[in-house]
Amino acid sequence: MNRDKLVVFDTTLRDGEQSPGASMTLDEKVRIAKMLEKMRVDVIEAGFAIASPGDFASVQAVANAIKDSRICSLARALDKDIDRAAEALKGANASRIHTFIATSPIHMKYKLKMEPDAVLAQAVHAVKRARNHTDDVEFSLEDGSRSEFDFMCRITEAAIDAGASTINVPDTVGYGEPGEYGAMFKRLMGAVPNADKAIFSTHCHNDLGLAVANSLAAVMNGVRQVECTINGLGERAGNAALEELVMAIKTRKDVFPVETNIATEHIMPTSRLVSTVTGFPVQPNKAIVGANAFAHESGIHQDGVLKHRETYEIMRAEDVGWNTNKLVLGKHSGRAAVKARMEELGITFESNDALNEAFARFKALADKKHEIFDQDLQTLVSEAENAKRQDMYKFLGSDVTAKTGEKPNAAVTFNVNGKQHTAQSEGSGPVDAAFKAIENIAKSEADLLLYSVNAITQGTESQGEVTVRLEKAGHIVNGIGADTDIVAASIKAYLDALNLLHSYGEKAHPQREGI
Ligand code: KIV
Ligand code: ZN
Repeated sequence: MNRDKLVVFDTTLRDGEQSPGASMTLDEKVRIAKMLEKMRVDVIEAGFAIASPGDFASVQAVANAIKDSRICSLARALDKDIDRAAEALKGANASRIHTFIATSPIHMKYKLKMEPDAVLAQAVHAVKRARNHTDDVEFSLEDGSRSEFDFMCRITEAAIDAGASTINVPDTVGYGEPGEYGAMFKRLMGAVPNADKAIFSTHCHNDLGLAVANSLAAVMNGVRQVECTINGLGERAGNAALEELVMAIKTRKDVFPVETNIATEHIMPTSRLVSTVTGFPVQPNKAIVGANAFAHESGIHQDGVLKHRETYEIMRAEDVGWNTNKLVLGKHSGRAAVKARMEELGITFESNDALNEAFARFKALADKKHEIFDQDLQTLVSEAENAKRQDMYKFLGSDVTAKTGEKPNAAVTFNVNGKQHTAQSEGSGPVDAAFKAIENIAKSEADLLLYSVNAITQGTESQGEVTVRLEKAGHIVNGIGADTDIVAASIKAYLDALNLLHSYGEKAHPQREGI
């Protein structure tokens, strides 16, 4: 079969970050971008440059750090957005400006308060302005799947005429159904006279759990770019998961007439990195990257797999990087081995001092824990990056008692703007006592939305990774902490969340602001 190339456009750093609480630091974004590059993702949407100075700096840093993937910034169909995106992308080897405007009747009437002709004129103006900066311009019809067909055709034709080389028709609210969404693309490409001058793209949200199915239906109907995120991260129920799309296409070559460039063996490490950085754990039964995805529980299945693996396995775990974690580091591993493994994970060191510091942290962890896995290394680097921040709260130590039949008690020692405090409280459990103790001093008035503990690796020796989600005044943050002692991990996560709340800067949301 003659296969077309399917462009993989990853938007973990942009749409993924729009997931409440999933914000990432500049360093974390660069680390993720490096893994995406290693995975041979074609286009990395690095952010929405105009959203805030921090977003601008992140797009710029990713553009400067990545050489093999095209780097993209989102921009509303506004001159100031487009110019800011272009500025942030200056250092990129290959860049793309992704501009968009809503095209559905409901969005045009209530959000934009604009007539369709004015929307079309603004789209054309935006594409032309973006083309003055780069020859790779993508235009998205926001809420495309709920737009009127004739208007979709008119605006698509005009955007291509104005110089857009990719036309993206998102299912912004996750309302699409595979048969209908796929057919819409076929009809659109058939009706637009200059359709052959652009690549059509899909961008699906998962509100009805159909994001991957809708994206694949679009591919079956001629779409040649899929927009997706690692672990399906994204607004509300998320976006189509990159790993699911890529593996469906690879595994069902008999059905899909396309191929991707993706080096699938990097999927697992990238999935873990995104989960560690965002504090969004991957559910065990998640396809491809969930802990149970390749685990054969039942006796019948195990027997079948042992006799002939294809009886129950349609993919090989090693093809998506499940076994690339076999190399285990420990107390006796040297600096060179640690550095090599970290580089494999996209972690590079700007100086010898930075490497020495990472190695010292590695040794400290290896004293507590026999075997150090990739996830431990990723967590260790995240912690080191956090330690460099000018944080308001810094954890110093804790003394927690929890005896059967007695009320747990916690004393937590931490710095607040450099001044040391020890706070004490009882609680219903040791973690509750520790959080209450912190609040005796911090008085944050934040609501605790989520508290979750995950073992980073296997075994009771594993580090516990805790996520604490706090909300205050409409801002949601995820604090993360890791330690072999889960109460200490919980305290670190709580203080991390307080620091994030404290440093929360205003940031524009690309879709909610309107124009
Ligand atoms: O979901 C959506 O419509 C988007 C666009 C900005 C592409 O994220
Ligand atoms: Zn989206």
